[in-house]
Amino acid sequence: MKINKYRKPENHIENFFYERWSSKSFNSKSITKSQIFSLFEAARWAPSSSNSQPWKFVYATTGEFREKLNMVLNPYNRVWASKAPLIILVFSKNHTDGKENRNAKFDTGSAWMSIAIQAKIMGMNSRAMGGIDLHKAHQVSGLSKKDYSSICAIAVGFSDDDGNSTENIPNSRMKIHEFIMDSPIIK
Ligand SMILES: Cc1cc2nc3c(=O)[nH]c(=O)nc-3n(C[C@H](O)[C@H](O)[C@H](O)COP(=O)(O)O)c2cc1C
Repeated sequence: MKINKYRKPENHIENFFYERWSSKSFNSKSITKSQIFSLFEAARWAPSSSNSQPWKFVYATTGEFREKLNMVLNPYNRVWASKAPLIILVFSKNHTDGKENRNAKFDTGSAWMSIAIQAKIMGMNSRAMGGIDLHKAHQVSGLSKKDYSSICAIAVGFSDDDGNSTENIPNSRMKIHEFIMDSPIIK
């Protein structure tokens, strides 16, 4: 796999963590209902604050509703993501037991990552998109802004892109020491 040319872990981890990457290229293979539900099953087991499970996924594969989801995407994302067999809008619930849930978006991020990893393990490609029209996401889903925050969309499908195209290549990462601290900053 060409991805190993771009991504070299510094420490031992399972391959799927660094071999997962967000291609923008999808082939014509469709996705089955059972595959879709395996993705949501993975999300289901994500950890969340007080087990509140504040995520909500609105999805479509084909048909009129899918056209509507495509129109939620910004034009630059719509160009490539329209080819994906599955689009998911991601929302997080604003309140748990009547109180503002400040961890809801963090928890919803955990659920997205479970989807991304499960997709990778099943030989699929996924790419999240913050480039969406948040207002339209609420409109098409019917989920109110009072109860839910619109976070992003996800395109999922199959890709023949093994990281060898020049247009969109797997990126790398900062070094671990750039994002951890083992002592406080002394001022
Ligand atoms: C919340 C979120 C929003 C993103 N928004 C976009 C987007 O609007 N368009 C796009 O092409 N990629 C988008 N991406 C993909 C990121 O650019 C990509 O995940 C990042 O560069 C790391 O690359 P990798 O996923 O291949 O490891 C988004 C990713 C995340 C997690």
